[in-house]
Amino acid sequence: MFRKCLDQLDAYKAGKPISVLKKELGLNQVYKLNANENPNGPSKEAMRSVSEILEQISTYPDAGSERIRQSLSGVLGVKPSQIMIGNGGDEILRLLTEILIDPGDEAIAIVPYFSLYKNNVQLMNGILKEVKCETFEFEPKTILSAITSKTRLIFLTSPNNPTGTIIRREQLIEVLNQVPKDIVILLDEAYYDYAAECMDYPDGVAYLKSHENLIILRTFSKSFGLAGLRVGYAVSSEKIIEALLKIKLVFNVNLLAQAAALAALQDPRHVQKSIEQNKKSLMRLYDYFNSRKIEYIHSHANFVFVNFNRPISEVTQHLSKDGIFITPGTVWGYDTWGRISTGTDEAMTAFIDSMDSLINNS
Ligand SMILES: Cc1ncc(COP(=O)(O)O)c(C=O)c1O
Repeated sequence: MFRKCLDQLDAYKAGKPISVLKKELGLNQVYKLNANENPNGPSKEAMRSVSEILEQISTYPDAGSERIRQSLSGVLGVKPSQIMIGNGGDEILRLLTEILIDPGDEAIAIVPYFSLYKNNVQLMNGILKEVKCETFEFEPKTILSAITSKTRLIFLTSPNNPTGTIIRREQLIEVLNQVPKDIVILLDEAYYDYAAECMDYPDGVAYLKSHENLIILRTFSKSFGLAGLRVGYAVSSEKIIEALLKIKLVFNVNLLAQAAALAALQDPRHVQKSIEQNKKSLMRLYDYFNSRKIEYIHSHANFVFVNFNRPISEVTQHLSKDGIFITPGTVWGYDTWGRISTGTDEAMTAFIDSMDSLINNS
């Protein structure tokens, strides 16, 4: 009944919502540290804007999300025609493989990577070539040496999910300058705001003028705290944006989501607050892991990849009894590792206390 490529696809296993977890497990308090969500919630401006527009939900939204494009164009210093607003970054990833990958074509990603890349390539009957750097740090040569005549797309993720590592400025420039111009480079900057303060972290948008084959992905799901509304965007050359716009669903970004994203853009203080909370929570996690001699990777995002040195199922089972949910590294083939999203002060205390009880009793 179905296309052959569906045999090799697995549905994405998203974490369950807090209300469902509480009900299923009979818990009063749940700390969801498995989806890199923003513990500060959405900006008040965004919430007000959504409540004000509720009366209009009997009408279709603006198909082109023009006001957000205009607003982002000012923030990013590019033309509105270089921006596409999507139903989350996820939609951009799906559309990108749809415009680029014919059966047998190749895309390249460095392991471990955001798992949706593979599904999208496979859905088009393409091949995702997985390459590995010597350490978790990015190496241009690893990507460059994997390019073949069939390569159509390269996934670069900075900060990377799940490791939180970044691609440094000279490394990005090296890749951009050496990849043939007919291969598209997706620079996934879903966690951009958390890394932006780092001096070596390049702003991908700055390289669009010189590289028409570059596309930047960003999202309102993380630092803006709007994951539940689904808004992300692509910034690229007009040529690539035009191709994406041709195939997107007509009303891809709903009315409430558009109102919230537009208002959130006017509230940079909320993003700043989220960045500060993230720094604080990262520091607490680092201090804890250092004191317990637990290996972790220094992160530029709102999560940390940690080696617990024991089967990760032991850790996740123990934490879940205390209402704490993290992502097991098995998702990426790392059986003793886990990814912990940063949370509120309270969530970080709960995580640390629960880890202590696991370590002290084993
Ligand atoms: C690396 C990366 N890219 C893209 C996305 C997609 O984000 P969204 O669809 O919520 O905009 C995520 C979400 O977790 C991510 O981690």
